[in-house]
Amino acid sequence: MFLKSCCIYSTGVFSMLFLIVGIALVLSNVFPQSVQSIVKKDVVLKNGSEAFEAWESPPAPIYMQFYFFNLTNPLEVLDGEKPAVVEVGPYTYREYRPMEQVNFQDNGTKVAAVNTKTYIFQQNMSRGPESDLIRTVNIPAIVKMMFKNHSVMANLISSYMKFEEEGLFTTRTVGELLWGYEDAVLKALQIIKPELDDVFGLFYKNNASNDGEYMFFTGQQNYKDFARVDTWNGESSLSWWTSDECNMINGTNGASFHPVVTKTEALYMFSSDLCRSLYALYEDDVTVKGISAYRFVPPSEVFANMTVNPANAGFCVPAGKCLGSGVLNVSVCKQGAPIIMSSPHFYQADEKLVKDIIGMKPKKEHHETAIDINPLTGIILQAAKRLQVNVYVEKIPAFSQTENVRTVIFPVMHLNESVVIDDMSAKKLQAIATVQNVVENVPFMLIGLGIILGGVFMLLMCRLKVPEATAAERQPLLSS
Ligand SMILES: *[C@@H]1O[C@H](CO)[C@@H](O)[C@H](O)[C@H]1NC(C)=O
Ligand SMILES: *[C@@H]1O[C@H](CO)[C@@H](O)[C@H](O)[C@H]1NC(C)=O
Ligand SMILES: *[C@@H]1O[C@H](CO)[C@@H](O)[C@H](O)[C@H]1NC(C)=O
Ligand SMILES: *[C@@H]1O[C@H](CO)[C@@H](O)[C@H](O)[C@H]1NC(C)=O
Ligand SMILES: *[C@@H]1O[C@H](CO)[C@@H](O)[C@H](O)[C@H]1NC(C)=O
Ligand SMILES: *[C@@H]1O[C@H](CO)[C@@H](O)[C@H](O)[C@H]1NC(C)=O
Ligand SMILES: *[C@@H]1O[C@H](CO)[C@@H](O)[C@H](O)[C@H]1NC(C)=O
Ligand SMILES: *[C@@H]1O[C@H](CO)[C@@H](O)[C@H](O)[C@H]1NC(C)=O
Repeated sequence: MFLKSCCIYSTGVFSMLFLIVGIALVLSNVFPQSVQSIVKKDVVLKNGSEAFEAWESPPAPIYMQFYFFNLTNPLEVLDGEKPAVVEVGPYTYREYRPMEQVNFQDNGTKVAAVNTKTYIFQQNMSRGPESDLIRTVNIPAIVKMMFKNHSVMANLISSYMKFEEEGLFTTRTVGELLWGYEDAVLKALQIIKPELDDVFGLFYKNNASNDGEYMFFTGQQNYKDFARVDTWNGESSLSWWTSDECNMINGTNGASFHPVVTKTEALYMFSSDLCRSLYALYEDDVTVKGISAYRFVPPSEVFANMTVNPANAGFCVPAGKCLGSGVLNVSVCKQGAPIIMSSPHFYQADEKLVKDIIGMKPKKEHHETAIDINPLTGIILQAAKRLQVNVYVEKIPAFSQTENVRTVIFPVMHLNESVVIDDMSAKKLQAIATVQNVVENVPFMLIGLGIILGGVFMLLMCRLKVPEATAAERQPLLSS
């Protein structure tokens, strides 16, 4: 009898013990923190570390996909009608971007490198060959805008264009539009502006080249700074506009990634396309190849006009001249060519811009920039950077051809630079996640065990008590 009740009471004691320890562990958050501190130790850029190797030559394939807008009604546009476009694409390139000239500095807290990008066309992932023809705005011809007050020059170019049978629109191959073609108008302009390049291309000089030196934090001092861009070409990456604004179009971002462990943190990304840091906020929980991730997207305020978000005054170029929400004038970067950047199909931009062009269909899932990050390790599982290149088309008095055109922001092309974690890295990460799950669940298992033991304890107590109760004692209870 004594042994039996001893057994029962120790069940109760253990139940309480498990409950207290379990709850204490949950409240103190010790286990997840210890897992994180193990991960933190690994997340540093130093010669030979796994993180360094992945940073130096990213194992996951990166693809750059271009979609062009083929103009279907050029004559009507010259007559003042809305432009109608058809999206054609993708034209896909595999992007190789190893870190080169790697040089550790400041006691291993920083590392300098250049990010050389090479683009190789992927026929099997493309809609057609690079020789597909696209009819779009003749951007070099519009460069003449710079000379609209220069009547001699304007006349010269105007007659030159007639001679060459060129006009406001031109039909060029995908390869020419991206990687460059010699342009007659630009060649003529060289007479008075010798520094002007006579080759035009949206990604001209971008292949097998780099956009200057980046200085990264290694994460040695603070794991949250892992691979964060400190300076770019010697300037702080946080400055609003850097002197090298020209990389906005021909460069792509020096993607920086760093461990983000909470949903409330903002993710700062440095984009040399936009010459500034952007931020993204937590939006949703997602799963990529079986691994859990937080999805971060730039909130609409990031691109909102100055009225909505005064912090975006820097977007109004020149100062005070704002184009509205969702578009950015990068003219200074393109030798004065009136280039405007936006999200594809004017996603999150003013409704007017969408309505001005027939064929725009903004769609969140297709046109937003998004980054999916594993919260435990800060590793990017999936990312898609999406941008659109537009041209500001307006009436130019010196050129009769443009007499009747409407003022529009005309879309030329949009791109999607994307990456998904490779299967090997995904497997490794899955293993880490499994361990994390087990470890993190230990406190809950203790609590569960405590509850079960508690139940058993109560059951045994009742059974111990039952025989002691006599029938006589129970009777009044039933009749009352
Ligand atoms: C890393 O170490 C290897 C061998 O010790 C050396 O050859 C290489 O130059 C080092 N790399 C850097 C960036 O210091
Ligand atoms: C690294 O910095 C610490 C203190 O800042 C200094 O004592 C140490 O000598 C440095 N090590 C090297 C290799 O420069
Ligand atoms: C980029 O350069 C590489 C080698 O320098 C070449 O193989 C590739 O075809 C080039 N890509 C384009 C789009 O010109
Ligand atoms: C774009 O439009 C032009 C002119 O109509 C046409 O010749 C060309 O084939 C079109 N391009 C594509 C890729 O459909
Ligand atoms: C971008 O193009 C401009 C001129 O077209 C050039 O000066 C600049 O170096 C290029 N930048 C990159 C990253 O290739
Ligand atoms: C874009 O910026 C350039 C240079 O700052 C300026 O001359 C031009 O008028 C702007 N374009 C528009 C459409 O605001
Ligand atoms: C900014 O956007 C809001 C809402 O889209 C609009 O009402 C306002 O007129 C815009 N302001 C400017 C300066 O474009
Ligand atoms: C890139 O984005 C486009 C839409 O902008 C989409 O159609 C395409 O499937 C995306 N590519 C990848 C590899 O995710």
